[in-house]
Amino acid sequence: MTILKFQKKILSWHTKNRRDMPWRKTKDPYKILVSEIMLQQTQVSRVIPKYLAFLRVFPTMAQLAKAPRLKLLKAWSGLGYWRRALSLQNTARIVQGTYAGKFPQDPKTLETLPGIGRYTARALACFAFGNTEAFLDTNIRRVYLHFFFRNKHDISDKEILKIAQKATDKTRIKEWHYALFDYGATALKDKAINKRSLHYAKQSKFEGSFRSFRTGIMRFLLDQPNQKATTNKIKRMLRKESSPYSSEKLLASLEKDDLIKKRGASYSL
Ligand code: ADE
Repeated sequence: MTILKFQKKILSWHTKNRRDMPWRKTKDPYKILVSEIMLQQTQVSRVIPKYLAFLRVFPTMAQLAKAPRLKLLKAWSGLGYWRRALSLQNTARIVQGTYAGKFPQDPKTLETLPGIGRYTARALACFAFGNTEAFLDTNIRRVYLHFFFRNKHDISDKEILKIAQKATDKTRIKEWHYALFDYGATALKDKAINKRSLHYAKQSKFEGSFRSFRTGIMRFLLDQPNQKATTNKIKRMLRKESSPYSSEKLLASLEKDDLIKKRGASYSL
């Protein structure tokens, strides 16, 4: 398919199949970053209420930057991947401090901030500042694999990005990417297309995973008085939940990520 035909197909499909999302209505880089960090890990339908609730608690970056950690963790509860909440706050603090409260606009600079990788830097620069560099997430990658790499395997992002950059409609940069997200997520039913990418990473099951028991400890501590519990109490909870992982390993990994602190025989948030 030619690039011109491809652009026409995606954009005309999108006029009738546009999905509405609250973060598509704002230009505030802070709000867009919150949405992109949440969307890295969770599907759109679950992110929408969390996003709206989070912004009611922290309507501005300045408020997030100075928030106590407990308030932050409570607002993040139900999303998992707690480290991302801490990175988001650290980014807010750096932007408040180092950049005088204004996000840098250049993707390369954005990438130096905590929790912001290649994709997020370019998505943020696009949706907040109109940056025209192409970027790929799972859904966008699926679209290019489908139209330009049929029956091909082990395709690298570098190859896809060469075409994506040519195909990017720079006159309506946001609309173009929303169309790609929506097409990849809803029009292409065969989700196995992404296995032909060299960068395919199967989402591992949450239930019973190491991560699920880490989340269990975080929730448990959030529910405790002063968000604090003895090691023995945590051990008992893990035994009751039939954790196959040792409490020592789980607690050490949370401590290493700076999510919990050890004080004597107790752990706290
Ligand atoms: N709209 C803006 N960012 C998005 C994302 N990451 N996924 C789906 N739709 C979006």
